[in-house]
Amino acid sequence: MNLQYNHKPVLIKESIENLITDQNGIYVDATFGGGGHSYEILKKLSKKAILIALDQDKESIKRNFIKDKRFHLFHKNFVYLRDILNQNHIDQVSGIFVDLGISSLQIDNPTRGFSNRFNCILDMRMNQESSYSAQNVINECSKKELFHIFYEYGEFKNPIRIADKILEQRSKKNITTALDLVHIFFIKGSFKKRKRFFARLFQSIRIKVNNEINILKNFLLESSKIILPGGRFVVISYHSIEDRIIKYFFKKGVIINKIRFKNLPFIMIHKKVIKPSFKEIINNPRSRSARLRIGEKT
Ligand SMILES: C[S@@+](CC[C@H](N)C(=O)[O-])C[C@H]1O[C@@H](n2cnc3c(N)ncnc32)[C@H](O)[C@@H]1O
Repeated sequence: MNLQYNHKPVLIKESIENLITDQNGIYVDATFGGGGHSYEILKKLSKKAILIALDQDKESIKRNFIKDKRFHLFHKNFVYLRDILNQNHIDQVSGIFVDLGISSLQIDNPTRGFSNRFNCILDMRMNQESSYSAQNVINECSKKELFHIFYEYGEFKNPIRIADKILEQRSKKNITTALDLVHIFFIKGSFKKRKRFFARLFQSIRIKVNNEINILKNFLLESSKIILPGGRFVVISYHSIEDRIIKYFFKKGVIINKIRFKNLPFIMIHKKVIKPSFKEIINNPRSRSARLRIGEKT
């Protein structure tokens, strides 16, 4: 495969064989990233089919390597999928694929601020045109907002302590880099414990910066209108907060705290969540937290 950079597509076989129900259909890859899934989806479709792909990161769009008449790529947040379809005179589609979170291109880029491995400016915007970055979150959110971020998106047991430390530090000086943030915390215990703490801290800030949970909930709702009956909604998530939302939506028709469907919009194709095999995790350790769920439109 001629992928242009080192992003290994996750659960590729499982996602694609569950997505395609009509080889002549119209499909959506809502999170193009490095294009690994789009590339494989196109291989399985007929000459008449269409694949619409979206990514909110313009780096991902710039690096697109797929040249195919059936393929149409847009720099757009997937929450605006309906607009893109309308502009292209498409009402409904045979299936939607979404691979949530960030790509290796983003996390391994020292200037993007997604990782605590680099001492870079706290940024974490997936969409570089947004004016709201991790610096705004860390230096401007109130104590209550910080509590919410660390409790809801980081699932920390001591969110107040984390918020207090940040408030104390920023009262002396703005927190602008990843190292500024890391140095606020002294985590006792093993390397593994420390790694886990910072992974969750950074994840929770990233979720807030990119409004990921609200966008996901809106997208679930919208997708239930966009997918044709019998079509598939294939979702890969990487943390329990997202996976819980997807599971409840497929199982109970509930978008937490918001909307409850009378009749289930999707039925779950596999009762159990699909996880990467041991072999895949060895080949691609970043796949280890991936969880795949498939809904079929009723
Ligand atoms: C895990 S990567 C996708 C990898 C891709 N499936 C591949 O095989 O290369 C997630 C991508 O989705 C994009 N993304 C995340 N949330 C998005 C959203 N709400 N709208 C559009 N793109 C989004 C990110 O910018 C990132 O490029």
